[in-house]
Amino acid sequence: MLNLTIQRLGHACGARVTGVDLSRPVPPETLEAIRKAWLENLVLVFPEQKLDPKSLVAFTRNFGELDDFSSQPFNRHPDNKEVFLLSNKRKDGKLFPTYNSGQNWHTDLSYTVRPAKGTSVYCLEKPSVGGDTMFANMYLAYERLSPKMREFLDGLEAVHDISLVAGLDKRGPEVANEFRRLNPPVVHPAVRLHPESGRKALYINERVRNFLGLSEAESKPIVKFLCEHAVQPRHVYRHYWTLGDLVMWDNRCLVHLAVGDYDPNEIRHMIRTSGMGDYYGRYLDPEAAAAQIKGPVLSTDRKSVAALQD
Ligand SMILES: [Fe+2]
Repeated sequence: MLNLTIQRLGHACGARVTGVDLSRPVPPETLEAIRKAWLENLVLVFPEQKLDPKSLVAFTRNFGELDDFSSQPFNRHPDNKEVFLLSNKRKDGKLFPTYNSGQNWHTDLSYTVRPAKGTSVYCLEKPSVGGDTMFANMYLAYERLSPKMREFLDGLEAVHDISLVAGLDKRGPEVANEFRRLNPPVVHPAVRLHPESGRKALYINERVRNFLGLSEAESKPIVKFLCEHAVQPRHVYRHYWTLGDLVMWDNRCLVHLAVGDYDPNEIRHMIRTSGMGDYYGRYLDPEAAAAQIKGPVLSTDRKSVAALQD
Protein backbone atom coordinates (compact mmCIF):
# COMPACT_ATOMS: atom_id res chain seq x y z
CA MET A 1 0.00 0.00 0.00
CA LEU A 2 1.28 3.48 -0.88
CA ASN A 3 1.94 5.96 1.91
CA LEU A 4 2.07 8.85 -0.52
CA THR A 5 0.02 11.96 0.24
CA ILE A 6 -0.49 14.52 -2.51
CA GLN A 7 -1.87 17.89 -1.50
CA ARG A 8 -2.47 20.64 -4.06
CA LEU A 9 -0.69 23.93 -3.38
CA GLY A 10 -2.16 26.09 -6.12
CA HIS A 11 -5.04 26.14 -8.55
CA ALA A 12 -2.78 26.63 -11.58
CA CYS A 13 -0.06 24.18 -10.56
CA GLY A 14 1.90 22.81 -7.61
CA ALA A 15 1.41 19.95 -5.16
CA ARG A 16 3.16 18.83 -1.99
CA VAL A 17 4.14 15.18 -1.80
CA THR A 18 4.83 13.47 1.51
CA GLY A 19 5.20 9.87 2.64
CA VAL A 20 8.29 9.00 0.61
CA ASP A 21 12.00 9.04 1.46
CA LEU A 22 13.82 10.02 -1.72
CA SER A 23 17.26 9.18 -0.33
CA ARG A 24 16.40 5.46 -0.62
CA PRO A 25 15.32 3.41 -3.63
CA VAL A 26 11.68 4.25 -4.39
CA PRO A 27 9.42 1.30 -5.34
CA PRO A 28 8.04 1.24 -8.91
CA GLU A 29 4.39 1.73 -7.86
CA THR A 30 5.35 4.84 -5.86
CA LEU A 31 7.38 6.17 -8.81
CA GLU A 32 4.37 5.69 -11.06
CA ALA A 33 2.14 7.59 -8.60
CA ILE A 34 4.72 10.41 -8.50
CA ARG A 35 4.92 10.52 -12.29
CA LYS A 36 1.12 10.75 -12.52
CA ALA A 37 0.99 13.50 -9.88
CA TRP A 38 3.76 15.35 -11.73
CA LEU A 39 1.87 15.32 -15.02
CA GLU A 40 -1.29 16.54 -13.25
CA ASN A 41 0.27 19.21 -11.05
CA LEU A 42 3.38 20.22 -13.09
CA VAL A 43 5.34 21.20 -9.96
CA LEU A 44 5.90 18.74 -7.09
CA VAL A 45 7.37 19.76 -3.74
CA PHE A 46 8.89 17.02 -1.57
CA PRO A 47 9.60 18.59 1.83
CA GLU A 48 12.07 17.43 4.51
CA GLN A 49 14.25 15.31 2.24
CA LYS A 50 17.86 14.44 3.03
CA LEU A 51 19.67 14.33 -0.30
CA ASP A 52 23.19 14.68 -1.61
CA PRO A 53 24.35 14.83 -5.24
CA LYS A 54 24.45 11.03 -5.50
CA SER A 55 20.95 10.40 -4.15
CA LEU A 56 19.53 13.34 -6.13
CA VAL A 57 20.89 11.75 -9.32
CA ALA A 58 19.66 8.28 -8.29
CA PHE A 59 16.10 9.49 -7.66
CA THR A 60 15.74 11.79 -10.65
CA ARG A 61 17.20 9.23 -13.06
CA ASN A 62 14.05 7.19 -12.44
CA PHE A 63 12.27 9.59 -14.80
CA GLY A 64 14.75 9.31 -17.67
CA GLU A 65 18.25 10.17 -18.85
CA LEU A 66 19.85 13.21 -17.20
CA ASP A 67 21.49 16.16 -18.92
CA ASP A 68 25.27 16.42 -18.49
CA PHE A 69 25.10 20.23 -18.74
CA SER A 70 27.47 20.38 -21.69
CA SER A 71 25.71 23.66 -22.55
CA GLN A 72 27.44 25.18 -19.49
CA PRO A 73 30.10 22.78 -18.13
CA PHE A 74 31.64 25.42 -15.87
CA ASN A 75 28.55 25.26 -13.63
CA ARG A 76 28.64 21.54 -12.93
CA HIS A 77 29.26 19.89 -9.60
CA PRO A 78 32.97 18.95 -9.44
CA ASP A 79 32.24 15.27 -8.81
CA ASN A 80 29.20 14.71 -10.97
CA LYS A 81 28.54 16.19 -14.39
CA GLU A 82 24.81 15.50 -14.06
CA VAL A 83 24.58 17.87 -11.09
CA PHE A 84 24.43 21.60 -11.61
CA LEU A 85 25.26 24.10 -8.89
CA LEU A 86 22.94 27.04 -8.30
CA SER A 87 24.91 29.10 -5.86
CA ASN A 88 25.85 32.60 -4.84
CA LYS A 89 28.93 31.34 -2.99
CA ARG A 90 32.28 32.64 -4.12
CA LYS A 91 34.84 30.86 -6.27
CA ASP A 92 38.35 32.35 -6.27
CA GLY A 93 36.91 35.46 -4.63
CA LYS A 94 34.37 35.91 -7.43
CA LEU A 95 30.70 35.06 -7.34
CA PHE A 96 29.94 31.64 -8.85
CA PRO A 97 28.47 32.17 -12.38
CA THR A 98 25.01 30.90 -11.41
CA TYR A 99 24.61 33.47 -8.62
CA ASN A 100 21.97 35.31 -10.69
CA SER A 101 20.55 32.36 -12.63
CA GLY A 102 16.98 32.22 -13.82
CA GLN A 103 15.94 35.78 -13.05
CA ASN A 104 13.74 36.24 -16.09
CA TRP A 105 10.82 34.02 -17.11
CA HIS A 106 12.18 30.99 -18.92
CA THR A 107 12.00 27.27 -19.40
CA ASP A 108 15.22 25.40 -18.73
CA LEU A 109 17.66 25.00 -21.60
CA SER A 110 15.28 26.34 -24.27
CA TYR A 111 18.41 27.88 -25.82
CA THR A 112 19.50 24.33 -26.73
CA VAL A 113 18.12 21.97 -29.36
CA ARG A 114 17.19 19.49 -26.63
CA PRO A 115 15.61 21.48 -23.78
CA ALA A 116 15.16 19.93 -20.35
CA LYS A 117 12.13 17.70 -19.88
CA GLY A 118 12.00 18.23 -16.16
CA THR A 119 14.16 19.96 -13.57
CA SER A 120 14.71 18.97 -9.95
CA VAL A 121 16.23 21.38 -7.46
CA TYR A 122 17.22 20.52 -3.88
CA CYS A 123 17.63 23.30 -1.34
CA LEU A 124 20.80 23.09 0.78
CA GLU A 125 21.05 26.70 1.95
CA LYS A 126 18.68 29.62 1.62
CA PRO A 127 18.47 33.28 2.54
CA SER A 128 16.46 34.18 5.64
CA VAL A 129 13.86 35.79 3.42
CA GLY A 130 13.32 36.01 -0.37
CA GLY A 131 14.77 33.91 -3.20
CA ASP A 132 11.45 32.22 -4.04
CA THR A 133 10.79 30.50 -7.36
CA MET A 134 7.65 31.26 -9.38
CA PHE A 135 6.04 28.90 -11.90
CA ALA A 136 3.43 29.69 -14.57
CA ASN A 137 1.19 27.11 -16.25
CA MET A 138 1.67 27.34 -20.04
CA TYR A 139 -1.27 25.03 -20.84
CA LEU A 140 -3.55 27.63 -19.29
CA ALA A 141 -1.62 30.43 -21.00
CA TYR A 142 -2.30 28.79 -24.38
CA GLU A 143 -5.90 27.80 -23.69
CA ARG A 144 -6.81 31.31 -22.47
CA LEU A 145 -5.76 33.02 -25.69
CA SER A 146 -8.39 33.85 -28.29
CA PRO A 147 -8.93 31.24 -31.04
CA LYS A 148 -7.45 33.60 -33.66
CA MET A 149 -4.29 34.16 -31.64
CA ARG A 150 -3.93 30.40 -31.04
CA GLU A 151 -4.29 29.80 -34.76
CA PHE A 152 -1.62 32.43 -35.50
CA LEU A 153 0.80 30.91 -32.96
CA ASP A 154 0.20 27.30 -34.01
CA GLY A 155 2.08 27.92 -37.24
CA LEU A 156 4.92 30.00 -35.80
CA GLU A 157 8.46 29.18 -34.78
CA ALA A 158 10.48 31.27 -32.35
CA VAL A 159 14.20 32.02 -32.05
CA HIS A 160 15.57 31.43 -28.54
CA ASP A 161 18.75 33.35 -27.84
CA ILE A 162 21.01 32.80 -24.84
CA SER A 163 22.00 36.47 -24.94
CA LEU A 164 18.57 37.18 -23.46
CA VAL A 165 19.37 35.27 -20.24
CA ALA A 166 18.98 37.94 -17.55
CA GLY A 167 22.26 39.18 -16.13
CA LEU A 168 24.45 37.03 -18.42
CA ASP A 169 27.06 39.76 -18.89
CA LYS A 170 27.28 40.36 -15.15
CA ARG A 171 28.85 36.89 -14.86
CA GLY A 172 32.03 38.17 -16.48
CA PRO A 173 33.18 38.13 -20.14
CA GLU A 174 34.87 34.71 -19.96
CA VAL A 175 31.70 32.93 -18.81
CA ALA A 176 29.31 35.01 -20.93
CA ASN A 177 31.32 34.49 -24.12
CA GLU A 178 31.68 30.77 -23.50
CA PHE A 179 27.95 30.51 -22.81
CA ARG A 180 27.23 32.18 -26.16
CA ARG A 181 29.80 30.11 -28.05
CA LEU A 182 28.37 26.82 -26.80
CA ASN A 183 24.77 27.85 -27.39
CA PRO A 184 24.12 29.37 -30.83
CA PRO A 185 20.54 30.58 -31.45
CA VAL A 186 17.94 27.81 -31.82
CA VAL A 187 14.43 27.59 -33.22
CA HIS A 188 11.45 26.01 -31.43
CA PRO A 189 7.74 25.91 -32.24
CA ALA A 190 5.80 28.64 -30.44
CA VAL A 191 3.32 26.01 -29.27
CA ARG A 192 4.32 22.53 -28.27
CA LEU A 193 2.35 19.38 -27.88
CA HIS A 194 3.20 17.76 -24.57
CA PRO A 195 4.32 14.21 -25.43
CA GLU A 196 2.76 12.65 -22.32
CA SER A 197 -0.39 14.66 -21.65
CA GLY A 198 -1.24 15.31 -25.32
CA ARG A 199 -2.15 18.93 -24.43
CA LYS A 200 -0.86 22.01 -26.21
CA ALA A 201 1.24 24.50 -24.23
CA LEU A 202 2.59 27.91 -25.15
CA TYR A 203 6.38 27.62 -25.58
CA ILE A 204 7.41 31.25 -25.42
CA ASN A 205 9.47 32.98 -22.76
CA GLU A 206 11.62 36.05 -22.15
CA ARG A 207 14.56 34.47 -23.99
CA VAL A 208 12.75 34.62 -27.35
CA ARG A 209 14.28 37.14 -29.73
CA ASN A 210 11.81 36.95 -32.64
CA PHE A 211 9.50 34.73 -34.62
CA LEU A 212 10.78 33.22 -37.86
CA GLY A 213 9.52 35.29 -40.76
CA LEU A 214 8.83 38.31 -38.55
CA SER A 215 11.32 41.05 -37.75
CA GLU A 216 12.48 41.73 -34.20
CA ALA A 217 10.46 44.97 -34.21
CA GLU A 218 7.33 43.05 -35.23
CA SER A 219 7.98 40.17 -32.84
CA LYS A 220 8.90 42.14 -29.73
CA PRO A 221 5.41 43.43 -28.79
CA ILE A 222 3.90 39.98 -29.42
CA VAL A 223 6.52 38.25 -27.25
CA LYS A 224 5.98 40.87 -24.54
CA PHE A 225 2.21 40.40 -24.65
CA LEU A 226 2.52 36.60 -24.52
CA CYS A 227 4.95 36.65 -21.60
CA GLU A 228 2.75 39.04 -19.61
CA HIS A 229 -0.35 37.02 -20.44
CA ALA A 230 1.39 33.76 -19.44
CA VAL A 231 2.60 34.90 -16.03
CA GLN A 232 -0.53 36.65 -14.76
CA PRO A 233 -1.19 35.73 -11.09
CA ARG A 234 -4.00 33.25 -11.80
CA HIS A 235 -1.52 31.08 -13.78
CA VAL A 236 1.22 31.16 -11.12
CA TYR A 237 2.36 29.12 -8.12
CA ARG A 238 5.07 30.79 -6.01
CA HIS A 239 7.33 28.49 -4.01
CA TYR A 240 8.80 29.69 -0.72
CA TRP A 241 11.81 27.45 -0.16
CA THR A 242 12.48 25.56 3.05
CA LEU A 243 15.74 23.70 3.67
CA GLY A 244 15.40 20.11 2.51
CA ASP A 245 12.80 20.82 -0.19
CA LEU A 246 13.16 18.97 -3.45
CA VAL A 247 11.10 20.68 -6.15
CA MET A 248 10.57 18.85 -9.43
CA TRP A 249 8.88 20.60 -12.36
CA ASP A 250 7.89 19.98 -15.96
CA ASN A 251 9.61 22.38 -18.37
CA ARG A 252 7.41 21.33 -21.28
CA CYS A 253 4.37 23.15 -19.92
CA LEU A 254 5.75 25.72 -17.46
CA VAL A 255 7.89 28.81 -17.35
CA HIS A 256 9.61 29.79 -14.12
CA LEU A 257 11.59 32.61 -12.57
CA ALA A 258 14.01 32.79 -9.64
CA VAL A 259 13.13 35.92 -7.69
CA GLY A 260 16.34 37.86 -7.07
CA ASP A 261 15.05 39.72 -4.03
CA TYR A 262 17.30 38.43 -1.24
CA ASP A 263 20.23 39.88 0.66
CA PRO A 264 23.31 39.11 -1.51
CA ASN A 265 25.34 38.57 1.66
CA GLU A 266 23.17 35.59 2.53
CA ILE A 267 23.75 32.24 0.84
CA ARG A 268 21.34 30.58 -1.57
CA HIS A 269 22.84 27.22 -2.50
CA MET A 270 21.01 24.50 -4.37
CA ILE A 271 21.81 21.47 -6.49
CA ARG A 272 19.91 20.57 -9.62
CA THR A 273 19.47 17.84 -12.17
CA SER A 274 17.65 18.17 -15.49
CA GLY A 275 16.06 15.34 -17.43
CA MET A 276 16.89 15.15 -21.13
CA GLY A 277 13.94 16.19 -23.24
CA ASP A 278 13.21 15.38 -26.85
CA TYR A 279 15.24 16.91 -29.69
CA TYR A 280 12.66 19.58 -30.09
CA GLY A 281 14.55 22.41 -31.68
CA ARG A 282 17.09 23.06 -34.41
CA TYR A 283 19.91 25.53 -34.89
CA LEU A 284 18.92 28.74 -36.63
CA ASP A 285 22.06 28.45 -38.77
CA PRO A 286 23.30 24.84 -38.51
CA GLU A 287 26.61 25.37 -40.37
CA ALA A 288 27.62 28.42 -38.36
CA ALA A 289 26.57 26.63 -35.15
CA ALA A 290 28.70 23.56 -35.91
CA ALA A 291 31.77 25.74 -36.55
CA GLN A 292 31.15 27.83 -33.45
CA ILE A 293 30.75 24.94 -31.03
CA LYS A 294 34.06 23.27 -32.04
CA GLY A 295 37.05 23.83 -29.82
CA PRO A 296 38.14 23.43 -26.22
CA VAL A 297 35.50 24.03 -23.59
CA LEU A 298 35.90 26.14 -20.47
CA SER A 299 35.49 23.45 -17.85
CA THR A 300 34.90 23.22 -14.15
CA ASP A 301 37.95 23.86 -12.04
CA ARG A 302 37.55 21.00 -9.58
CA LYS A 303 39.54 22.54 -6.75
CA SER A 304 37.96 25.98 -6.65
CA VAL A 305 34.43 24.68 -7.22
CA ALA A 306 34.93 22.06 -4.52
CA ALA A 307 35.46 24.98 -2.13
CA LEU A 308 31.81 25.88 -2.72
CA GLN A 309 30.83 22.77 -0.82
CA ASP A 310 32.31 24.08 2.45
FE1 LIG B 1 15.58 27.69 -14.58
